[in-house]
Amino acid sequence: MSLTRLDKYLADAGLGTRSEVKKYIKKGQVYVNQIPVTAPEKKIDTDSDEIIYQDQIIRISAYDYFLLNKPAGYVSATKDNTAPTVLSLIPNGRKDLFPVGRLDKDTEGLLLITNDGALAHRLLSPKRHVNKTYYATIEGIVTTEDVKSFERGLFIGDEDLGEALPAQLSILETEPFKNRSTITVTIQEGKFHQVKRMFQAVGKKVLTLKRIGFGPLTLPEDLPCGAYRQLTPEELDLLKSCC
Ligand code: URA
Repeated sequence: MSLTRLDKYLADAGLGTRSEVKKYIKKGQVYVNQIPVTAPEKKIDTDSDEIIYQDQIIRISAYDYFLLNKPAGYVSATKDNTAPTVLSLIPNGRKDLFPVGRLDKDTEGLLLITNDGALAHRLLSPKRHVNKTYYATIEGIVTTEDVKSFERGLFIGDEDLGEALPAQLSILETEPFKNRSTITVTIQEGKFHQVKRMFQAVGKKVLTLKRIGFGPLTLPEDLPCGAYRQLTPEELDLLKSCC
C-alpha cells in the first residue's frame, strides 16, 4: 500500500498546480473509486485506488515525454546564466526533465523533453542514425552540386567533428535576386552546429533553421512556436521502436 494526499497525487500527475487541483477537488470533479471526493487532503492508495478526472483515469507515470516547438532565444540546457532555458517553457514540469539533444539558441522547432534517460541515450547514440530534418533559409543559391556534395558526406571542420555522414538535401526555392534559397535537409547525426557547418563547407550560410522532423515524429502544424504537448501513446511507441 502506498498512501498519499489526493491533491499531491493530481499535481504530481501534471494536472495543474497544487492550488489548481484543489479547486477541481472542491468542485467535486475528482472521483476516487467512482465516488466524488471534495477533500484535497484525502489519503488515497496509489496502488489500488482508481482516480478519475474528466472521465480519464489519472496515473502517475515514471516518465514524461513532451514535444516542444522551441522558439529562438532559448538555450537547450537545464540551466543557463545568460538566457532562458527550454525547460522554462514547461512551467509545471517535473524537476528531472531535460532536452533530448541540443538545438542552437537561434534554432527553432521540434525538441523532445523527457526524464527518460535510457530512451534519450538511444535516440542520441551516433550508432543509431536517428534522422533529423530541418527547414532552412540559406544565404546563396543552393545548387544540384551542393545536393550531390551533401549526398556524398562532407568534411565539416576540425578533427573532432570530421566527416558528416551523407545527408539528403532538397531545394524548395531559389531566389536569385535576393541571393537566397529555402531547403530541407535530413541528417543522420547531431554533431555540433552540423547543418550550419555543412553549408559552410559548400560556401553558404544558414540564415534561419527550424527542425521539422525527429525520427518518426514531425513538428505538428497546429503547435505554435513556444508551445508544447505530451507525446501521444502512438508517437511514443514509434519513437521507442525507431532506435
Ligand atoms: N544543426 C545546426 O547547425 N544547428 C542546430 O541547432 C541543429 C542542427
